[in-house]
Amino acid sequence: MFVRPASPRDYPRIPPLVEAAFGRHDEGLLVQELREHGDIALEYVATDREELIGHVLMSRLLSPKGCLALAPLSVHPDRQRKGIGSTLVRAITEAAEEQGWTAAFVLGNPHYYGRFGYEVEPADDFDTPFAHEFTAVCVFDEPEFGSLPRELIYPRAF
Ligand SMILES: CC(C)(COP(=O)(O)OP(=O)(O)OC[C@H]1O[C@@H](n2cnc3c(N)ncnc32)[C@H](O)[C@@H]1OP(=O)(O)O)[C@@H](O)C(=O)NCCC(=O)NCCS
Repeated sequence: MFVRPASPRDYPRIPPLVEAAFGRHDEGLLVQELREHGDIALEYVATDREELIGHVLMSRLLSPKGCLALAPLSVHPDRQRKGIGSTLVRAITEAAEEQGWTAAFVLGNPHYYGRFGYEVEPADDFDTPFAHEFTAVCVFDEPEFGSLPRELIYPRAF
């Protein structure tokens, strides 16, 4: 298994993988729309030889500026529970920190994302269109994070 930034050659193969992972079209369409609107900031794939087996992306929040949204995260159904999702989340989170982003929010199971440094409590006082109990954040720049406007505005595709 090899994890690397996604390249344009991967793009056509990503929505089918995402749809296979989730068992429906919605998240595959989300990826396509985020790409069409130029909202994707970071994107990683996992491959096994030539086969695409995992994918994750982060898009830019409209507000607060300097913050990202991690979603969706997908691992092919035949390859789940082998550490691929964890490797993808760690790789993209490290890249976000290295690039100097303030924080990355995630909408998902806190039990899963907690192990990668995403915490529910610091995200609690942000207004969000989604459920608070599934909104977690990984903070890279604490002082900057403290001064952000407390409203999450996601890209239109969400
Ligand atoms: C969720 C997903 C990305 C995890 O990837 P993965 O490669 O299977 O996960 P890993 O092998 O890295 O991690 C396995 C761990 O995650 C847990 N896990 C897997 N899927 C989970 C889920 N949907 N919710 C909570 N925990 C989950 C497992 O219990 C396991 O925990 P353990 O190490 O304590 O036993 C993958 O199962 C998937 O693509 N699912 C369908 C799409 C989806 O739900 N995406 C996430 C939406 S935010």
